[in-house]
Amino acid sequence: MCYNENMRRVICPVCGKQLLTCDKSAYCENRHSYDRAREGYFYLLPPNAKKSASPGDNKDMVEARKRFLATGSYLPLASRLCELIDTRFKDGIALLDAGMGTGYYLSHIADSRGHKDDMIGVDISKDAVKVAARAVPDAFLAVASVYSLPVADGSADAVISVFSPFADREFARVLSEGGALFAAVPAEEHLIELRRALYDDVRPVQSELRSDILRETAREELSFKFELESSEDISALLSMTPYVYRAPCDRVSKVKNSDHMTFTANFLIYTFTK
Ligand SMILES: C[S@@+](CC[C@H](N)C(=O)[O-])C[C@H]1O[C@@H](n2cnc3c(N)ncnc32)[C@H](O)[C@@H]1O
Ligand SMILES: [Zn+2]
Repeated sequence: MCYNENMRRVICPVCGKQLLTCDKSAYCENRHSYDRAREGYFYLLPPNAKKSASPGDNKDMVEARKRFLATGSYLPLASRLCELIDTRFKDGIALLDAGMGTGYYLSHIADSRGHKDDMIGVDISKDAVKVAARAVPDAFLAVASVYSLPVADGSADAVISVFSPFADREFARVLSEGGALFAAVPAEEHLIELRRALYDDVRPVQSELRSDILRETAREELSFKFELESSEDISALLSMTPYVYRAPCDRVSKVKNSDHMTFTANFLIYTFTK
């Protein structure tokens, strides 16, 4: 019995054959099998792809991201991604979120497009996938690496990559003809107020994307301000950034104890095609 339509697109991470599934497990014709976790996701990360015992964002970072995103502060980015997808794809599509974190963007896109798309989400962090499993219960979700996606060649019409590793070779492999990759990265002024509060020497963020494999067809900047009005929300924002580990402790504490701050969000959103 097939678990959902997406299973046609999901491949065995060991041999690359299509995965078939019963309720509680998935298996390929070479008898590699994978249990479905209680929360509904599959663990499709081969042991040799793990560089640490628990790769990707840890539980604290995942909880911080969940709390921060629940403030709605990045809603304009989620909405813009939806518009870009809607403009290009009127009918239901196969959509992959590569490095989906807590599933915030996937869930927003699912709701705003009326759940008409077949969705796959992957992240290398088990803690993130567990949270995403609650946020997007009708998607096929897996613990997997964006550098070795358990997704068949040419089977994703849209791939989204939001602040996650840019595995352009894999994205090109899984994109269908006519498919598109929408990738968002922080731009120069992103969270400038936070960085000024933490460091004396603040440099512009450099995270422009380039690909020799995919063709960049559009690039746009999205900027807006947002306010956080509790020390818990400000701490959550800080805790989902790498600054929390790198900045001087006294400056980190001061930010964490602030109960009102205004921030600049500044993103670049790219569209790439094959
Ligand atoms: C900055 S977070 C962004 C998460 C989500 N897209 C969002 O914006 O809320 C980056 C995510 O990439 C994941 N990640 C890091 N390396 C990865 C890899 N090789 N394969 C899949 N996911 C990875 C992390 O676990 C984390 O959830
Ligand atoms: Zn196999």
